[in-house]
Amino acid sequence: MFFKISLFKRAALYSTFLLCFSCILYGQTILIPIETKNTAVVLQTDKDKNLLMVYLGTKLKSAEEYAYIPSMYSRGDDYSGIINSVYTPSGSRNLVEPAITVTHADGNTSLDLKYVSHLQTKEDNNISLITIKLADPAFPFDVTLYFKCYYNEDVIEQWSVIKHMEKGNVLLQKIASANLYIPGNGFWLNQYHGDWAREMQPEETKLTHGIKVLDSKLGTRAHLYQPPTFAISIDKPATEDEGKVLYGSLEWSGNFRVDLEVDPLNNLRLIAGINNQASDYLLKPAENFTTPAFLYTFSDKGRGDASRNLQRWARKYRILDGNGSRLTLLNNWEATFFDFNEQKLSELIKDTKKLGVELFLLDDGWFGNMYPRNNDKAGLGDWQENRTKLPSGVGYLVKEAEKNQVKFGIWVEPEMVNPSSELYKRHPEWIIKQPKRSEHLYRNQLVLDLSNPKVQDFVFNVLDTLFSKNPSLAYIKWDCNAVIYNAYSAHLNKQSHLYIEYIRGLYEVLKRIRAKYPKVPMMLCSGGGGRVDYAALKYFTEFWPSDNTDPLERIFIQWEYSYFFPAIATSNHVTDWGKQPIKYRTDVAMMGKLGFDIVVSELNEKDLKYCQQAIALYKQKSDIIWHGEQYRLLSPWENDFASIMYVDEERSNAIVFNYLVSNRYKAGSTSPVKLKGLNAAKKYSVREINLYPDTQSPLSQNAIYSGDYLMAVGINPNVRDRRPSVILEVMEIK
Ligand code: DGJ
Repeated sequence: MFFKISLFKRAALYSTFLLCFSCILYGQTILIPIETKNTAVVLQTDKDKNLLMVYLGTKLKSAEEYAYIPSMYSRGDDYSGIINSVYTPSGSRNLVEPAITVTHADGNTSLDLKYVSHLQTKEDNNISLITIKLADPAFPFDVTLYFKCYYNEDVIEQWSVIKHMEKGNVLLQKIASANLYIPGNGFWLNQYHGDWAREMQPEETKLTHGIKVLDSKLGTRAHLYQPPTFAISIDKPATEDEGKVLYGSLEWSGNFRVDLEVDPLNNLRLIAGINNQASDYLLKPAENFTTPAFLYTFSDKGRGDASRNLQRWARKYRILDGNGSRLTLLNNWEATFFDFNEQKLSELIKDTKKLGVELFLLDDGWFGNMYPRNNDKAGLGDWQENRTKLPSGVGYLVKEAEKNQVKFGIWVEPEMVNPSSELYKRHPEWIIKQPKRSEHLYRNQLVLDLSNPKVQDFVFNVLDTLFSKNPSLAYIKWDCNAVIYNAYSAHLNKQSHLYIEYIRGLYEVLKRIRAKYPKVPMMLCSGGGGRVDYAALKYFTEFWPSDNTDPLERIFIQWEYSYFFPAIATSNHVTDWGKQPIKYRTDVAMMGKLGFDIVVSELNEKDLKYCQQAIALYKQKSDIIWHGEQYRLLSPWENDFASIMYVDEERSNAIVFNYLVSNRYKAGSTSPVKLKGLNAAKKYSVREINLYPDTQSPLSQNAIYSGDYLMAVGINPNVRDRRPSVILEVMEIK
């Protein structure tokens, strides 16, 4: 039950009456507490029916006490009276960053939004939806706010629907998904920046007065420079286990914008949505504009707790087959690049079996005839098997895989085209490019115009044809390497709709693919992590965090992704990047969804043996890694070694990964690592696993400790230069 307090009791207490079961009428104002297990977002109307956000933080035991909160702040004057509006309109009396800016059909540029009604519905015992209607008293224009609450996960998805019945089109110039108002004494932003092979580089800053904008204008591979994921610490910088923190992410694969405004009253205004840059949208009468959702979770127990909320939510409600299993694989990208033929691939398929993984993934380079895909300059768009490399077609390789009892997967990049391709010559009108400008290429390619339904059909058919010809195709790697330059669609009348319609078109295609092929695992790849978000992940089982597979770099990249995304969705491949031993590379990749992209035939006997046993062990332990709770024990940013732990639901079994990240003299584990998430009352055995052949662990392999000891004192994994990665198995002794 979400609203546990008896509202009748509350109504009596305050001599008021009950309006509906999720609100309190308090004098002339209505209080709407939106609660999850530990968090509350509280809205309240003022006497003029403006709806304001009066609280966001730890849930109170008595919901009626939220009403006292506004009177506790006396930080200055809010001249507009709507500085903490739940959806700040512009052009009337607002003085700060708006959530919505419009030009009405008659040219009027002002908007006012008043509370009309609200309603709570329940999807099940865990999920409720609160719908709040706001309307402009002077125009037939309304905004409906949606708060979808996942009670046990403490996660809220918030979005808005804009609608009007004016006599002509209304121009939407800014349309946020959510507008939060967070009271606090100082705010610290954890944001990310990056580029190819440098994804998810964190930065922490104290927010100062004024506006800090996080955004993207790249169009397709929109998150290359900056993802729509961030965290805000409230009152002081949160640590792993302490402090108030809000984790947020926009569920949108295209251009986004997040405004973080510390206002004159020293509170934080957070406005998140589609980027309005070059995206004015003409809304017809009676048409709905639904924004993407902004996803957030709040914790007063630090960053670790908040991240576990998101991971739990993602596994249960968002990522395709989030509670299921994943296939280990061998990819040929780094092993061959574009240089392969049937014979070479047949050998790699045999190596897939020999290695002990479950699937062979054929990467880029298998298509194009008139313009063969022998490098990244040609062939994109021509999705027919290259007859020189694959004279017997993909079907032959699928059969080879079957013969070797492994599955077969394939790479596609269906949104793109090389100028050297038949598609480019046949359908210039399908390509995003400005008529009077010279083409500007990104990785020698251009982007197809997914706002055009014919292009959507084409992209769908690329996949559909592959599946129809090869019904046992078991995996897709969906790449997307280029950004949008010279944004112009030959299909659209209104060019400023392109960035939005592109992403809507992409989701249409993905929906169609999933309607027909609901279960096939698909990796969301975007030349690395250029498109990792919770809208796209509805359709994908996993994502590719970065092309940078140097294990040392990956420890940091995977560490940061893990604040937002669960291990089951994080594809990690063992490659030849980095000079570290195979054990170190494999141990790092095991902390997510394991794959390989190496030349198996070049492994020496011991390395091969090690990989085979590591894969077998991974299969035994993957349930804990994929579905367990993740605890970050020691940060690679602050220590000589990083330590990350996964614990199963029963707190009976755990696995602890430890990786040396410094090569300074005597760098290593000089003191014990305190474990987390165990049951203090249980007894556990701790032993080192995944040892390299013919090596012994210096750790006692029969030691038994209480959960209390392991969490209060910890265990020293003996990480040092000769033992740069150490995996510990923790098992309950009954
Ligand atoms: C970029 C991807 O991130 C790589 O893994 C690989 O698939 C190449 N594209 C292929 O062109």
